[in-house]
Amino acid sequence: MAQTWTPNSWRQKPIQQVPDYPDLAVLDSVEARLAKYPPLVFAGEARRLRSALANVAEGRGFLLQGGDCAESFAEHGADTIRDFFRAFLQMAVVLTFGAQQPVVKVGRIAGQFAKPRSSGVEKQGDMTLPSYRGDIINGIEFTEEARVPNPERQVMAYRQSAATLNLLRAFAMGGYANLENVHQWMLGFVKDSPQAERYRKLADRISETMDFMKAIGITAENHPSLRETDFFTSHEALLLGYEQALTRVDSTSGDWYATSGHMIWIGDRTRQPDHAHIEYCRGIKNPLGLKCGPSLTADGLLELIDILNPANEAGRLTLICRFGHDKVAEHLPRLIRAVEREGKKVVWSCDPMHGNTITLNNYKTRPFERILSEVESFFQIHRAEGSHPGGIHIEMTGNDVTECTGGARALSGDDLADRYHTHCDPRLNADQALELAFLLAERMKGGRDEKKMVING
Ligand code: TRP
Ligand code: MN
Repeated sequence: MAQTWTPNSWRQKPIQQVPDYPDLAVLDSVEARLAKYPPLVFAGEARRLRSALANVAEGRGFLLQGGDCAESFAEHGADTIRDFFRAFLQMAVVLTFGAQQPVVKVGRIAGQFAKPRSSGVEKQGDMTLPSYRGDIINGIEFTEEARVPNPERQVMAYRQSAATLNLLRAFAMGGYANLENVHQWMLGFVKDSPQAERYRKLADRISETMDFMKAIGITAENHPSLRETDFFTSHEALLLGYEQALTRVDSTSGDWYATSGHMIWIGDRTRQPDHAHIEYCRGIKNPLGLKCGPSLTADGLLELIDILNPANEAGRLTLICRFGHDKVAEHLPRLIRAVEREGKKVVWSCDPMHGNTITLNNYKTRPFERILSEVESFFQIHRAEGSHPGGIHIEMTGNDVTECTGGARALSGDDLADRYHTHCDPRLNADQALELAFLLAERMKGGRDEKKMVING
């Protein structure tokens, strides 16, 4: 592992989840073209995210990471992006208030196109075709033609990412993210929710706080921080040829950065320490996520931490834990203890989506109660271990889809067929996402009161 790293040193390692491109010459030419295109993000931004995450690692902040399971070419449009951002910001406001700490905002967006698959093929009836691997690789339609990996899709994904990022930057800095707006949307949600009573108290307290600020003259006109927000992008760094083409040297520091997004993560299926994905990620300076599933041992985790963050820099590494509501109590404590014992600086984040997928009426779905239950256990376990529950990582959309069951509107298995649009895993819809934020904010506040009681008592 002490061998020298280059943006292509991963090519010497064993690798999982590689698409079977029929024409490698075309692939090479696409990668060569991408390598000349402008970066999507700048090194300085990735460093800013790293320092925000360093605060989270040290217990002074909370990470909200969320977005599509898989972005799609078909759903690319201003409304989808706006509705996502709107739901995401509402969650951020509620969580900021609940945690009484800054919330670091990271979307699974503007680059989240490639999907790892448990099987290389998909069977329907008596037809077997290559699996769909995300719009950056092949098409979702179940035809022979669509399923052939096409390198030109990488250029389309790059362009979609650029356009998405452009709109998000405009929203984040151009007035759309004004706290007053976001607060009004949030009140609209509370008013219409079947659980309105439950959420009203928290909403009223946020309203009071805003009114108080206004009364003493703190407004969006004289305080840019009330109308602007830092929003970062992230995706799974699965398609390494694409990532390599967008890997650039930062002229100020001389370091290598992935410029495809601010933060990238390594999936639970591609985290073998001597394989290609870990090799690629260890050499770039961006903040990294590492998905941690039930098969990860404490020693295995420590080995990966040493490879990915040898200098033990806070903010470099976020551990995204995805065990399942019924397994988190079995697996999380041993990982926390090993990491704490070795003094490793990490952000602990909870992905309550990927361990809680079930099949109902032939739909892949996730019961809201299980999602909530995994997050609650995550908080409880961290409280018991004395570590900081640093964030959540969710699959969500701003649209009114019916993909996860439960929530205040009590979506049932029979509702799934109504608006099931995901290209991959079931996402929380806007209402369910905001509900999760409210329920978490209540718990966070409870945790703070408990701490105070300990200190005072
Ligand atoms: N700038 C602050 C922040 O990003 C406050 C803020 C402005 C905000 N607009 C927001 C917070 C929208 C959440 C959502 O935290
Ligand atoms: Mn997913």
